[in-house]
Amino acid sequence: RGLRVSDRGFLNTAVIESSITYIDGDNGILRYRGYPIEQLAAKSSFLECAYLLIYGSLPTRAQLSYFEPEVLNHGVMHADAAGFFRAFRYDAHPMAILTSAFAYLGSYYREANPSLQGQNIYTNGAKGDPAALQNMDKQIFRLIGKATTLAAMAYRVRQGREFVVPPTGMSYTESFLFQLDHLSHSDAFPTALTSGGATYRPHPVLVRALDILFILHADHEMNASSTTVLQTGSSLPDPYSAIAAGCASLYGPLHGGANEAVIRMLVSIRSPENVPEFLAAVKRREKVLSGFGHRVYKTSDPRSFIIRKVADEVFAVTGADPLLNTAMALHDAALKDDYFVSRKLAPNVDFWSGLIYRAMGFPMDFFPVLFVVPRVVGWLAHWRQGVKIWRPRQIYVGPSERPYVPLEERQ
Ligand code: CMC
Repeated sequence: RGLRVSDRGFLNTAVIESSITYIDGDNGILRYRGYPIEQLAAKSSFLECAYLLIYGSLPTRAQLSYFEPEVLNHGVMHADAAGFFRAFRYDAHPMAILTSAFAYLGSYYREANPSLQGQNIYTNGAKGDPAALQNMDKQIFRLIGKATTLAAMAYRVRQGREFVVPPTGMSYTESFLFQLDHLSHSDAFPTALTSGGATYRPHPVLVRALDILFILHADHEMNASSTTVLQTGSSLPDPYSAIAAGCASLYGPLHGGANEAVIRMLVSIRSPENVPEFLAAVKRREKVLSGFGHRVYKTSDPRSFIIRKVADEVFAVTGADPLLNTAMALHDAALKDDYFVSRKLAPNVDFWSGLIYRAMGFPMDFFPVLFVVPRVVGWLAHWRQGVKIWRPRQIYVGPSERPYVPLEERQ
């Protein structure tokens, strides 16, 4: 009935009007609320960008001094949560733990569940009702504040280590690194903190690097996981469930798993002299060049230039990753090869981010977690705007009506 267009993979379907993030894929431009990503990465902090994405303007000093502690003070998890995390197998993938943890978190907050509360806070919030918006904002503070705590718990449970209570007096990313407490480079900065018995502070260069990486990953308009959050959120469950759905979407190797896939690819290539052979296999379509190509960017991903610089700053502290030479040889060869040039395939944000995370000492399967934590902000910025229930149509191409065949008569 009038349904003619099937846009497989949504190559040309806009599902929403939004003023949050602007991407010009042909010219390699990314802006949050109008601000170029390059300026934000150079001058801003992650929580400042979070405020910008969610509320539409850079915070004043007064707004930031309200927002930051609201988020950071919500970092503490109920002590019962330890039992939830300890129920996972020692070798569980951290994304499986984190996806489950977001849904689990929702079970703590009855006021976030519209069916339990008896009124539709999310519909009213999208219409600007102050009480509903206040309720939504509380969930936002909680989700951003607890994202690092849940991620750190997913990290530490696999090591059989005690969980760390988020410290006071640290920025969002410093607190995260502190809770993970895995970096040998931290020892260079021993400082006795009063909170939580801390005896060190994470290296400031690594803290700033992670803050920049978080800024770059905070939002990217209608990518697969943000769309998933909106699709799930459109039927009005609590936002914890919608964020869990986004987390599951991001897990895939074509999305948040790509930086892990890049490292596996580089390890399999082993050294620069094997690059031509690898690229030949890609061209025969036997392999994928992970970290290259993008649905929207058809020239270059502006985040990849920023990240390349961050990589050098991190390597200056940690030492260069042994895979760096292979990565550079692969990068340079692909950019000169007509197969990739003609298809407009350039490095995306994930080509370098995995190398940085590896140099910082993170295990590969934790990389997608480092993507989820900042992306929670983008998901929530979109979620806060509200959408009508998303119920797409299909074009049915199956058999027309036919009579039921009993089991004994089937061929
Ligand atoms: N390696 C080899 N060939 C590729 C690649 C690649 N990484 N990406 C695209 N192509 C080819 C593709 O086979 C197609 O060739 P042909 O026209 O001959 O059939 C052509 O380039 C056009 O690609 P496409 O199919 O239109 O690309 P898409 O928009 O459907 O897919 C993508 C985008 C990101 C899924 C894809 O480029 C890819 O798989 N890249 C590797 C995974 C990756 O790095 N993902 C991270 C994306 S950035 C972070 C994020 O947002 O999650």
